[in-house]
This record gives sequence, structure tokens and C-alpha cells, in this order.
Amino acid sequence: MESLGALTASQPIAGGLELQAGPARLRIQALADGIFRVWVHPDGRPFPAHPFSYAVRPESFAAAPPSVTLHRGEDHLVLVLGAWRVVVQRDPVRLHFEGPSGTPLAADSFGPVWEADRIAVWKRRAEGERFFGLGEKTGRLERTGRAYENWNTDDSGYDTRDDPLYKTIPFYLALCPTADQHVETYGIFFDNTFRSWFDFGGRAPEHVSFGADGGALVYYFLAGPTPADVLRRYTWLTGRFALPPRWALGYHQSRWSYYPEAVVRALVAEFRARGLPLDVVHLDIHYMDGYRIFTWDPERFPDPKRLAEDLRREGVRLVTIVDPGVKVDPGYRLHDEGLAEDVFVRYPDGRLYAGEVWPGRCYFPDFTDPKARDWFGRYVGEFLRTGVAGFWCDMNEPSVFGGGTMPDLVVHRLEGRGGTHREAHNVYGLLMARAVWEACRRHAPDRRPFVITRAAYAGVQRYACVWTGDNVADWSHLHQALTMMLSLGLSGEPFSGSDIGGFIGTPTPELYARWIQLGACSPLFRTHTAHGTPAQEPWSFGEEVEAIARKYLTWRYRLLPYLYTCFAEHLRTGLPVLRPLWLHHFDDPRTHDIEDAFLLGPHLLVAPVLEPGARTRRVYLPAGRWYDFWSDRCYEGPADVLVEAPLDVLPVFVRSGTVLPLGPAVQHTDEPCEFLELHVYPGTGGGTLYEDDGHSWAYESGAFRRTTFTLEASATTLSLKADVEGTYRSPLKHLTLCWHDCDGPAQLKVDGRVAAVRYETTRRLLYAELSVHFAHVRT
Ligand code: GLC
Repeated sequence: MESLGALTASQPIAGGLELQAGPARLRIQALADGIFRVWVHPDGRPFPAHPFSYAVRPESFAAAPPSVTLHRGEDHLVLVLGAWRVVVQRDPVRLHFEGPSGTPLAADSFGPVWEADRIAVWKRRAEGERFFGLGEKTGRLERTGRAYENWNTDDSGYDTRDDPLYKTIPFYLALCPTADQHVETYGIFFDNTFRSWFDFGGRAPEHVSFGADGGALVYYFLAGPTPADVLRRYTWLTGRFALPPRWALGYHQSRWSYYPEAVVRALVAEFRARGLPLDVVHLDIHYMDGYRIFTWDPERFPDPKRLAEDLRREGVRLVTIVDPGVKVDPGYRLHDEGLAEDVFVRYPDGRLYAGEVWPGRCYFPDFTDPKARDWFGRYVGEFLRTGVAGFWCDMNEPSVFGGGTMPDLVVHRLEGRGGTHREAHNVYGLLMARAVWEACRRHAPDRRPFVITRAAYAGVQRYACVWTGDNVADWSHLHQALTMMLSLGLSGEPFSGSDIGGFIGTPTPELYARWIQLGACSPLFRTHTAHGTPAQEPWSFGEEVEAIARKYLTWRYRLLPYLYTCFAEHLRTGLPVLRPLWLHHFDDPRTHDIEDAFLLGPHLLVAPVLEPGARTRRVYLPAGRWYDFWSDRCYEGPADVLVEAPLDVLPVFVRSGTVLPLGPAVQHTDEPCEFLELHVYPGTGGGTLYEDDGHSWAYESGAFRRTTFTLEASATTLSLKADVEGTYRSPLKHLTLCWHDCDGPAQLKVDGRVAAVRYETTRRLLYAELSVHFAHVRT
């Protein structure tokens, strides 16, 4: 392995500096405040004028680099940008970063190293430093002490130790202790699509290293100092999830597969008859004609358009699965048109590559070619016109029976640059999702797309939500679902979910009940199960579990105004919907280990039961006062508390000083929402309510309403202010204030006028009707 030698020349460039160290060339450049790119060309080639990345937003590359100051010292060069410094040692060239605390961060030990095509970066692991990220990985949420690999892999029924799985997100976040007993956070994004690896002190405890089998030696440093700062910067670079259609936040029912159409209709009727909310039904591979993508089985689904229309009247939408493989079958339209338009991948000698998937031998579209993406998108357009509301992209690692995936030497166009599957493999799923998302934008420009994908690369959040693949109906997978969703959120993807109840096998009634409870907090709330398993609907596990499912489905729909607001906040800040406790309490080391409880948005702390037989739950509550959501019992943190958690209780706590919007208990998201409750919990703080039409892009031009609440309340006094931005006219007609932990009836003035109040002594709750346009309520 070779590494950088002594500095021989340096030259300032916009936003940074370029260095020569022996034969190698190194470029350090700021893209924005607190975002630095480090790029090495071992052979000294000049850097291209326009860097290429599938993960980075084109807008981030186009932004003018900020101006930096350069100090030349005897031993070091220092690049300064605001509170951030990149310190470059001259001999040998090694660098580190410094933030406000002055603690060296991500300091090179050996720095960038290379040998033939293989490249890596070696950094020092600071004392007590901890690592998180890499998206969907098995095992603990924390990555310290383990090594991981990235090579998108279909591992059906995976073990909770398996690696790699379906997704590659080569981004990590470090919590680094500072000299003054605080914690400073930073992130590293290794934008390399080849087979890659990360080692967080697993094989060499004093080092953190990452590398790949080929490709560019380039990484980004994303500055903190807080975890929220790192995530804001990472998602500035790689993009955020635009607002999903509101219906996508409702409940989804899936199985492999619901067919024929009569079964789908009966399923929907059953949900409605039982009063169980439902927004989406997923159609798995049996809807197709012989698994030929973008076809319908003429007997099972003779009139899909009518089916879609009829279900829409019930408030239910259809999402259809789509795999990348196109059946080798002369006469089948996609086969013939795909060949005619030359969109399939080939061997180096020009022969078509074919691999076996569900339909038998298949050709594979080259999603790294814009022409192939457009071609695929045409059929997406047809399905949209049939009334399909969203697309479920599966098998896109890509998965090929027998060999796992396609051979390394298969050729891809890679946007005209040309290359092999070694480079294209890890972005294949991302680009399939992108093809579908772009097609939705093209063919249904007024609607927000809904795309879900199994395989992914960094930046996937710009195109799709994800699920965690073929999990297993056991308790370890329930816990794993939570750590995976948390980790995906820490890796830029806020919209994820697991197959509720487990895909392989059959959950016990108890496991299904606990999974529905976690599911109700999951950004994507979908039950799914494999072919041939027993029924896995909310009523399939007996009356007790059905009642529990109804309680949490209903609760989910009541939470929608809050949850939707969390998505709007993600779009502004890059913060995920599900958050580890340390995201907001990083200075409390007790929170760094916690991976069995989480924050749902900024205000709710959820401690799901993840063990069989447990009817109590131990929870660590960080500093501040917390209210039990169900009983209003109040706790002073920091504290370890033991709470009752019978099978029908998901322990949830509300931070004091919260304004929590709760909607009505509806059966689906198309039901008009004229009622809203504003739950206030004494303390100093506030909350946000974001509203818009829930389906169009009008919010981008101001047609939203964001109400920011400021709260100052105790058990006897209250001041609640509302500040409104945006032009959207909310359909809300009734707004009820619910003041928790209130001592007794109080006189309330809404914008100066005395309001009627009602007080419930046993629950210590005070209710008052507010005008939907109120500006200030006070005692
Ligand atoms: C894959 C998917 C699974 C789907 C099945 C059949 O295993 O991960 O969700 O049900 O294929 O399409």
C-alpha cells in the first residue's frame, strides 16, 4: 500500500487548495459552510472540472464554493472557513479537522492509501469516540468495534448478524468526546459505489478505516458540532425526502400475494367492516401475467383500472411491485421494445446478459443509462394511467437466482462514461428507484410520487422510501427493525419500515401485537408476509390482538398531523422522523447506548416492548419532565423508570413544554379532517403544525401553512402563541385546546376574549374551543 508523502507544492483554488505530495495530487475543497471534500488522485492526474456522483445533488455541486482563508505555517497549512479548520501537516501529508472546541476530528493516521485499484483511508479513533450510520445494517445501532461491507445483497430471511444486506449508504457519524467533557459530532461520507468496507476499530482498535475495491478516493467531512448539524449538512449534500403524499403515511396491508381481484376487494371490505383504518394495498408478483413486469394477469385482474377506481372510492390505493428483470420472451412488449431500443446490459463482447429471476430468464435494463431510465418510465406512466398509485421496486440489488447477482464484468453505460458491474452494482437499485420516481414526476406532474425500494445507495431519500427486506417473524427481528430504521434515519433516509410481523415464518399473536405497536410509530407502516404463510392481517391473531391493532392503527391516524409535520421538518432540516435519544441529548452519555427506545419527532419518547412475555418496561428518561402519553403520569428526568406495559400498552412519553397536534380517528387519509386537538403539556417550549393539500407540489410555491406554537405553561397559567407562515387555506373548522396536568378550571382568553372551558377533574385536563386562527391564548 502506498500513502501520501511530503508536500511538494500547493496552490489555492476556489473554496480550498490543491496539493502535490510526490506523484499524488490532493484536493481539499469546501462545498458549503462545514462541508469539505477530500479527493486524491494517486497518479497525479488533474481533477475533472465537473465531479460526478449519483449520491450528491447536482445543486450541491453547482453551488459556488465559499471563500476560505489559507494560513501557511512551517509544518502545517491551515484552511479556515468560519468556525471550521482543516489542518494539513506537510511531511508526510496528513490532515485533520477542527471545530469550535479545537479537538482534532477525523485525524489521519495513515490517511489515504492505495494499491493498484484498491483504495482506503485510515484515521485515528479518538479515545471514547463512537460511531453510527451506514444505513441498514444488522446488529447493534452503534457501529464501534465492528467491520462492515457494502455490496447490495438479497439475503432473504437474513440473520441479525448478516452483512452485507440490501443497501449501501457509506456515511457514518461520530460522537467524539472533547477536552471540556462535551461531545462534538461529525460525519464522513465515502462516495464510492464499488464494493466497499468500513472498520470502526474492529480489526485495529485505534483506527477507523474505510476503503473500496476501485473507484475514486474521495470523501466528505460533514461538520457538527451537534448531530443535527451533521445531518443537516449530509442531507444538504445528498438531498432530502420531499414531502410524501399524505396517504403514504397511512396503514399499508401487503402479502405475497393478494389475488385475484375478488380477494383484494374482500380484504378492503373486511378492513372497513371491522373499523380498521387502511390506505394502501400492495400487489405482489402474482398480479402480473407470468411475472412479466408491467403486465396484468388477465384472469386474476381483468380490469385493473376499475379495481383501482372502486378502491379509491373506499379511500384505498394500490401499489404494485415491479422487478427489474424483463422476461426473455419474444413477443412480450417490454422484451421486444427493450431490445429494439438497446436498453439491456451486455457482456464485454456485446452479447446480452441474461439471468434467472421469477419469470425465468431475464434481461436487465441498464439503469445507469438515462435512455433506459426513460424507457422504463414509459411503462410506469401507463400504470399510473391505469390508476396505480405507487411502485414497489424489488429485487433490485439486482438479485439473480443462482449467482446472487450479475457477474462483475457485465458492462454498464454509467451515464456515458462506461464501466462494469463492479461500479454499477451498488447504485443499480437507487437508479431503478430514480427511473420510477422521475417517470412519476413526468407522467403525473401534479402528484407526489410514492416509490418504495429494497436496494439503495446514499441519496436514495431523493427518490424513495425503503423497507428492510425479508426479515423473520421472531423477536430479534422486531428489535432489529427498530435499529435499522434508526440507522437509516441517521443516514439520510427518514422514510423506512419493516415487514410488520415478519416476512418469513409466522408471528405469535403477542409478537404481532408488539410489532403493530412499533409499526404505528414507523414512518412506513406496512404489514407484509411471504408466500404460503398463514393470514397476517390485523384480525388474524384473535380478538385481543385485533383490538390492540385497532387501538394502534387508530392512534397512528390521530398522530398524522404530528407525523406529517415531522416529514415537513425533515425537508427543512434533514432530521429523521425516528431519532435515537442522543440526537437531542448528546451531552448525556447515558443516551449513547440506548437503542431500544427512540424519539418520534422532537416531542415523543417511545419505549416499545421488544421481548416476549414482558409486561413492564424499563425506560431511561433524559433530563426534563416527561408525561406518560396514556395516563399523564409525570416523571422527572434524568431517571430510570419502570412502567407497566401490558400487551395493549406501548409506553410513550411526551416532553414537557410540548404542543402536540392530534387529529380525528379516521378510516383513511382522504376523509376530511375538520377537527384538531392541540395537546399542551406544561413547561416552556412549543411545537409546530404543518399543513398543505397532502398530494400536490403546490407547497413548493408557498401553498402550505406552518404554525409555530410558543408555549409557556404551568399547572395554573398558560400562554400559547401561534405564528403562521404560508398561504394554504386549512380546511380545519374546530380546534380544541387540551391542557394536561392542569390544576383546575381557569379563565382563558383567546385573543382577548374569554373562552368557554371544561375541566375534567380525574384527568386534570382542561378543554377549550379555540378559533382556528387564534394568535394568543392565555390565562
Ligand atoms: C422478495 C421481496 C418480498 C416479496 C417477494 C415476492 O422476497 O423482498 O417482499 O414479497 O420478493 O415478490
